[in-house]
Amino acid sequence: MPEAITPAAPAVAAAIVPAAFADAEKALLAPNYPLPRLHLVSGRGARVLDVAGGEYLDFVSGIAVNAFGHAPKGLADALSSQLGTLGHVSNLFANTPGIELAQALTAATGYDRAFFCNSGTEGIEAALKFARARALKKGQKGRDLLAFKGGFHGRTGFALSATYTPSYREPFLPLIPGIRFADYNDVSALGSVLDSEVCGVLVEPIQGESGAVPATRDFLLALRTRTTALGAALIFDEVQSGMGRGGHFLAQEHFGVKGDMTVMSKALGAGLPIAAVLMTSDVADALAPGMHGCTFGGNPLCATAANWALSQVLAPGFLEQVRRSAKHLAQGMDALAAKHAGVREARGLGLLRAIELAPDAAFDAPALIAAARERGLLLVRGGERAVRVLPPLNVTLDELNEALSILDAALTHLGAPEGARS
Ligand SMILES: Cc1ncc(COP(=O)(O)O)c(C=O)c1O
Repeated sequence: MPEAITPAAPAVAAAIVPAAFADAEKALLAPNYPLPRLHLVSGRGARVLDVAGGEYLDFVSGIAVNAFGHAPKGLADALSSQLGTLGHVSNLFANTPGIELAQALTAATGYDRAFFCNSGTEGIEAALKFARARALKKGQKGRDLLAFKGGFHGRTGFALSATYTPSYREPFLPLIPGIRFADYNDVSALGSVLDSEVCGVLVEPIQGESGAVPATRDFLLALRTRTTALGAALIFDEVQSGMGRGGHFLAQEHFGVKGDMTVMSKALGAGLPIAAVLMTSDVADALAPGMHGCTFGGNPLCATAANWALSQVLAPGFLEQVRRSAKHLAQGMDALAAKHAGVREARGLGLLRAIELAPDAAFDAPALIAAARERGLLLVRGGERAVRVLPPLNVTLDELNEALSILDAALTHLGAPEGARS
């Protein structure tokens, strides 16, 4: 049995009933999220408690951030010790955890250098800038970038410009010019879109926000071969798939293809905001002092969190265990897809998985998420018709089985004719 969670609501919780929190959230926060949201107050491992005392198995994991569950043992001590020693110094000074992090990441991945910033989108901004800077340094005239339909790279200017989803882009047009889009996994389309005008290609080895859609090996190999021939930079967005979520330290290892740059974030900081752009020395050679920067990037506190996270993911046997759990989850989800007519397919890589609803399903993704939540399981949408399943990487087989049986019950409920629903 998992350890019981002690509700650790904030000091104001005793004085304000949950409904008042919901009203406050609705009245006070910018309305860019659907408000009010489920209000979580404490967690332990794969479980969280809401403000009203409801307990959930958390298979959202802070959108693929909490790789070690909630309140993992050792993290708080490491952070409080670092914060009591040196919390922040800015990019004007070196700090020991930051250097150690660069050492650990380059050793784990074979990339040569790292740039640190705070979030996935910022990492993508940096990588796209670095691709253009590299072209400039090499005297290549092409400045275009190629990204893919279904990809998600973030909400800031450059990252949003490389994200295809019209509803994310349209309110903010005009975006940064010079970005082309092609169909994901379509090798035959590359001939017409990937030419000498392109200085960088940005791709997720598995499209997370689109609902855990893996690349094919042929597609990634074709991108590698063509970018190498053209002298363009291949940039892997491993913000979601990296740090073991795809079953390897980086998901690109699964395909045997290495980029010129890789962006990591999410689980890298174990809940603290940090991103890393890993690069070859060929990319680093194009950068010079003053060209790019970030006040908080790789600060002692966030770098300590990342060093702690790396010590967990790179511990002997951890990634093998992730792959064993992933196999178990995949088999369970395949069985659900075979059993329920409302599911078109189950798919994914490692513990980045999703079920896509059948085109004629009588329910939609938000309804499935709500039905799972009512039964004690938190899930997150992926794309229009898919629901992602993102357990912590150290999830137990019992927790996976529990989640699968809740999903089964939710699908059975939604699949029944309306009058006959449990
Ligand atoms: C693949 C990928 N890239 C970039 C981002 C943007 O990261 P952030 O939300 O930290 O800016 C995300 C976020 O979901 C992502 O999944």
